[in-house]
Amino acid sequence: MGRIHNFNAGPAALPLQVLEEIQSEFLDFKGTGMSITEISHRSAAFDDVINDCVARVKRLLKLGDEFKVLFIQGGASMQFCMIPMNFLNGEGKSADYVNTGTWSTKAIKEAQIQNKTVNVVASSEDANFSFIPKNIPFNADAVYTHITSNNTIKGTQWAEFPDTKGVPLVADMSSDIMSRTFDASRFGLIYAGAQKNIGPAGACLVIVRDDMLKLTPDSIPTMLKYTTFAEKNSMFNTPPCFSVYTIQLVCKWLEETVGGLDKMEEQNRKKADMLYSLIDASGFYKGTAETDSRSKMNVTFRLPSEDLEKKFVQKALENGLGGLKGHRSVGGCRASIYNATSLKAIEALADFMKTFEKDEG
Ligand SMILES: Cc1ncc(COP(=O)(O)O)c(C=O)c1O
Repeated sequence: MGRIHNFNAGPAALPLQVLEEIQSEFLDFKGTGMSITEISHRSAAFDDVINDCVARVKRLLKLGDEFKVLFIQGGASMQFCMIPMNFLNGEGKSADYVNTGTWSTKAIKEAQIQNKTVNVVASSEDANFSFIPKNIPFNADAVYTHITSNNTIKGTQWAEFPDTKGVPLVADMSSDIMSRTFDASRFGLIYAGAQKNIGPAGACLVIVRDDMLKLTPDSIPTMLKYTTFAEKNSMFNTPPCFSVYTIQLVCKWLEETVGGLDKMEEQNRKKADMLYSLIDASGFYKGTAETDSRSKMNVTFRLPSEDLEKKFVQKALENGLGGLKGHRSVGGCRASIYNATSLKAIEALADFMKTFEKDEG
């Protein structure tokens, strides 16, 4: 079987060009006579990889000198605990959290089990997390405000980031990092598990502003302190080398082949519009997210019955379209259409959806 159109939610599709580049130098990385998975992280060759990766992330996201770019293991889930552990210390300190789904709920839980003070200032739980809340009463004295910029499971996304009146935003961008442009200066910390939009599992990209690093106390374990990673260019211990290397190549692809995040955003808008307009025009498929909260990365929809959903996912795979089953916690169908999923893949999916509706509707 050849390569299929991959709509997996994560780990997810990577640009073919990047996979081919990895393949071409996998046995002999840049004339070292060794694979990237065999060289020392203390070598000049790996120094070049991590430094170039950091520089590209900074250029793509237009980050100022006040930001550090780190690679930390433990996935995005580790950040749920590191953020409150590092930033919420001392008398009367609290953080605001907006609950927009499974991942926000987990982030809140990890702060609460450390007995940190968390204000859940808005939640869409009552409506099955089908929308992004508006007009939120943020607290002016919060240390930070935590949001999940794209909700991978429920298929919702913040179209605009909220105005927190100067309180630093902390955002889980695991499923939409590098998919669009935004003003990073209002963020104190951004984190993203690599395995959706920027690379393979293994590294979590963490972007942290210098003023936030000053909040980290000495009294927490070395490997859970942001300062440990910031002071050693993410190499206090062995970093997830292969993951960092792949993120570097994905960033190179974004800069040199795609032409930057403006272009990526335009392509992503086109891709999402194609699927949502098909869903809206059909009486057969039904989107699960409210229109103004729809994600451009994860398109979630239902069919008239669970049996039809099962058949849809199975038939799609037979037609070379993989990964369309919704998350196990919610059912239904989901097309994850990250950066590396091409317009051609979306067209193939749209054609399949039309045919399936004609046959089964
Ligand atoms: C938005 C979001 N946050 C966090 C996670 C958890 O990431 P990890 O598996 O890297 O801990 C996921 C995984 O799917 C996610 O989609």
